[in-house]
Parts: sequence; C-alpha cells; structure tokens
Amino acid sequence: MKKDFLTIRDMSPKELAKTLTLAADIKKHPKKYATSLKGKALAMIFEKPSLRTRVTFDVGIHQLGGFSVPLMPSEISLGKRESVHDVAKNLERMVQGIMIRTFAHQIVIDMAKHARVPVINALTDYSHPCQALADFLTIKEVKGKLKGLKLTYVGDGNNVAHSLMFAGARLGVNVTVACPEGYDPDPTAFRHAQEDAKETGARIEVVRDPMKGVEGADAIYTDVWASMGQEAETEKRKAIFKPYQVNAALMSRANKGAIFLHCLPAHRGDEVTDDVIDSKASVVFQEAENRLHAQKAVMLQLMK
Ligand code: CP
Ligand code: NVA
Repeated sequence: MKKDFLTIRDMSPKELAKTLTLAADIKKHPKKYATSLKGKALAMIFEKPSLRTRVTFDVGIHQLGGFSVPLMPSEISLGKRESVHDVAKNLERMVQGIMIRTFAHQIVIDMAKHARVPVINALTDYSHPCQALADFLTIKEVKGKLKGLKLTYVGDGNNVAHSLMFAGARLGVNVTVACPEGYDPDPTAFRHAQEDAKETGARIEVVRDPMKGVEGADAIYTDVWASMGQEAETEKRKAIFKPYQVNAALMSRANKGAIFLHCLPAHRGDEVTDDVIDSKASVVFQEAENRLHAQKAVMLQLMK
C-alpha cells in the first residue's frame, strides 16, 4: 500500500478490493478495531465546508482508539499564513496522519511529498476518493456484487465523477458519465480510467443523452451542478444542467431495481427530485454512513 491516499489510483485493484472487505468487517465488528490506532493523532485540515467528512473522520479515528485535531480554514490559512511545505514539516512531527480537504489537487500532492506521515485526500477539485470507497461499499452491500454492474453518473464531470470512474475501472464496474458538452470529466482522468479498465474489462464512457446513458444501469448517481468554489456559476449551470435532473422519468429508464446514490449535500429540486431521493431506491444515507467504515479501513491500513 502506498504511503498516501490521494486518488483511488493510489490503490491497486487488489488493494481496493481488500479495503472494501476490511471496511465491511469494521462495520460488522467495530469493537475488534477499538484500539488499533491507540493514541494516534489525525490532523484534519479543512479549506472547504463539510458535514459527512468532518464527522466520519472524527468519529472514525476515535473509534479506532486515536483522536483528531480539526483545523478550520481560518486557523492555518494554508499557503497564506504558512506554506504547504512548512505545514507538512511541522505536522509530521506532531501527528501520525493528515487528512486534507482543499481546492487544487496539487496541494495534497505537495503535502504528501513533504510529510513523512500518510496524507489522505478528503476532497480536492480533482478527486474525492474516500467518497468513491463508500459508494462502492454501498453498491456491494445492496447488490451483493460489483463486477459487471453498470453505474451511470448523471451531471457534472467533476471530482466525484473522476473518483467513480477510477474505482469502477479497478473494480470491474462499467461507468457511464452522462454530462452536457463543456462539462466532461477531465480528459487525463478519463484516459487514466480507460487505461485502468483494460485490466478488469470495465467499460468507461462519456455520453450526452441522460436517457440513453441510464439504460441498463444498476445504479444512478448524481452530484450538485455547482461544486464548492463554483458558487458564482450556480445560475448559469442550472439552465445547462436542467435536462440532467435525476427524476422519476429518468429512473424508470434504468434497470428494474436500480438504486440511487448521491454523495450529498443534495440540492433537492435541482439535480434530484424529492420523489427520487426519498424513494425506496435511494441509498444515500446508507452511503453517507459508509464513509465512516470506509475511512476507518483507510486509516487503519495507512496509520498502523
Ligand atoms: N459527501 C461529502 O463529502 O460530504 P461533506 O461535504 O459534507 O463532507
Ligand atoms: N462535487 C462536490 C462534492 C461535495 C461532496 C463539491 O466538490 O462540492
């Protein structure tokens, strides 16, 4: 296992599968792991807001016998009050792991380069690997398997879409991204996912038509149309993404028994309607809970 977890691609297909198995065991037998990281400290750097990430990392490290040191944007002012290099050089002497949520992906790469301790990416503009772990753990729980399933992501080709493509490619899950022109996944991320998919035979594709995209899908996934940092584009994006709303009509085009996922927070009435997110098909809160178990599996492997 690599020192850091910056993208799903930092884990081999085998390591990824093993992490999901470990997460499932942690979920089933939490007490077994209650002292695994006894006395270890996790610094949690936040440059963007959070509910799930904040709570699940905090609770997670405590449940493993360690403790957290949450650092909010106003406290360390990463890159302004102090350089990323200097923050890394300080923290590596004080804590046994660094979790970071920030804007540019390069910041987590630099932090990982300079810190001797593990760095865990808790969302950048490029990827959200902990989210994808929880997502595939959830799909596996509900569907009983992963290989050969089809997940269709409908909406913006963003950080969450990238991580889903990377994980699908490595786990043998076909991933279709249905997005409007101009909002495709990053071309390099797409190329990487397609290359990785050769090993498992997964199909990774980008399509324009959401109705066609969800055909044959076992899981439908969406995310906000304007991510954190893109708030100024909210109104413009609302008009562009309207045809990409996940509603009952779209869900009815997917496979019978298809489930609905969303990383949350959701903008109800925009990217998803209430009748979908509150339906029996929706597993969004199970998915949110699984952030806890998945991240405990990551911390356990990297910080032991
Ligand atoms: N899904 C997710 O990362 O949620 P938060 O932004 O609330 O942490
Ligand atoms: N794409 C969203 C995900 C939030 C968990 C964002 O970056 O804001």
